[in-house]
Amino acid sequence: MEGANLIVTGGCGFIGSNFVRMVLTELPNCRLVNLDNLTYAGNPKNLADVENDPRYRFVKGDICDAELVASIFAEEKIDTVVHFAAESHVDRSITGPAAFIQTNIVGTFTLLEAARTAWQGRDDVRFLHVSTDEVYGSLGETGLFTEETSYDPRSPYSASKASSDHLVSAYHHTYDFPTLITNCSNNYGPYHFPEKLIPLIISNALNGKELPVYGDGKNVRDWLYVVDHCAAILKVLQQGVFGETYNIGGNNEKQNIEVVQTVCDLLDEKVGLLSSGETRRSLIRFVKDRPGHDRRYAIDAGKIRRELGWEPSVTFEQGIEQTIEWYLNHREWVEEILSGSYRDYYAQQYGER
Ligand code: NAD
Ligand code: TYD
Repeated sequence: MEGANLIVTGGCGFIGSNFVRMVLTELPNCRLVNLDNLTYAGNPKNLADVENDPRYRFVKGDICDAELVASIFAEEKIDTVVHFAAESHVDRSITGPAAFIQTNIVGTFTLLEAARTAWQGRDDVRFLHVSTDEVYGSLGETGLFTEETSYDPRSPYSASKASSDHLVSAYHHTYDFPTLITNCSNNYGPYHFPEKLIPLIISNALNGKELPVYGDGKNVRDWLYVVDHCAAILKVLQQGVFGETYNIGGNNEKQNIEVVQTVCDLLDEKVGLLSSGETRRSLIRFVKDRPGHDRRYAIDAGKIRRELGWEPSVTFEQGIEQTIEWYLNHREWVEEILSGSYRDYYAQQYGER
């Protein structure tokens, strides 16, 4: 991997931007092209600190554009794909599934075909597809998702990711194509778009706004700090066995209400109570549940720990504290997103909005 030529798709999003930064630090001799079409979730400011690095190139474009993708493979002599680009928010997949089918399924297919065509006869190449534990469906009170758990996706988002996982596996079986798949639990940390649970709660709680908790608040997610997810992906890229799937998780199962209460308490501690003198827990509102809301996700990350020696570096308590500190120190980043002004910035830099 030392002198690898990577294409990272979706590098302006939450996890992708953390991963790009990690690769440029960990692999000094690599070259990295970030292909991202800057949907609502993509923000080039997430990578403002690396944009002048001579090893880094940003291309604003769609992964479904076969001609563009083929030209990048040829120009940049790409030997490594790390595929993050996706429509990623379950709630948006319920109100508007079409974009999920296009990007997550057609986009993945387009990348696979571009790589297969460009890589005929090569054995020094690899294609890592970043996926989610949501493909496995919903758990009851007990049990964990393993790599052997049958797929049972229940939202348009998870169904589109499951479909893309199947395509990637099929390329390995049919064409002996060098694939790696990772299925990770819920991430949190810096640069998380503020409509997902944790950054939404931090932002609303700081601004004294109501904190919407779906249903009874007892749905469980298994939270992983984003930097730990990125380290796991890098490990799979360097040491993973082609054709294999690796589950990644933090062993941090929490009910949503516990997460929301933790954020409230930490903010009360760090910035003081609300101006009314009340605690931030007073802002919690139980609202109408998400349709088809999966009850519980939990990952068995034993395979990646045993076979590749990966383990998370922080507990949830450490990670959530660091996350809150980051949001407190980057309030303008959230404000720009909420006001839409970051879109003006990249309209100026990269053409149309
Ligand atoms: P995100 O929504 O923050 O970022 C997605 C990025 O992809 C954005 O920069 C967006 O502009 C870009 N993009 C979208 N459509 C595109 C297209 N057609 N062409 C080019 N770029 C496009 O998502 P994220 O949370 O960073 O997730 C990244 C990947 O990780 C996704 O594949 C997601 O399924 C997977 N994943 C996410 C989580 C999580 O908790 N966020 C957990 C497990 C797996
Ligand atoms: P989310 O961040 O959307 O991630 P995912 O749906 O991929 O798990 O939601 C995390 C959990 O928080 C999920 O169970 C839905 C819940 N949730 C709320 O209770 N309120 C909210 O405002 C949001 C956005 C999510």
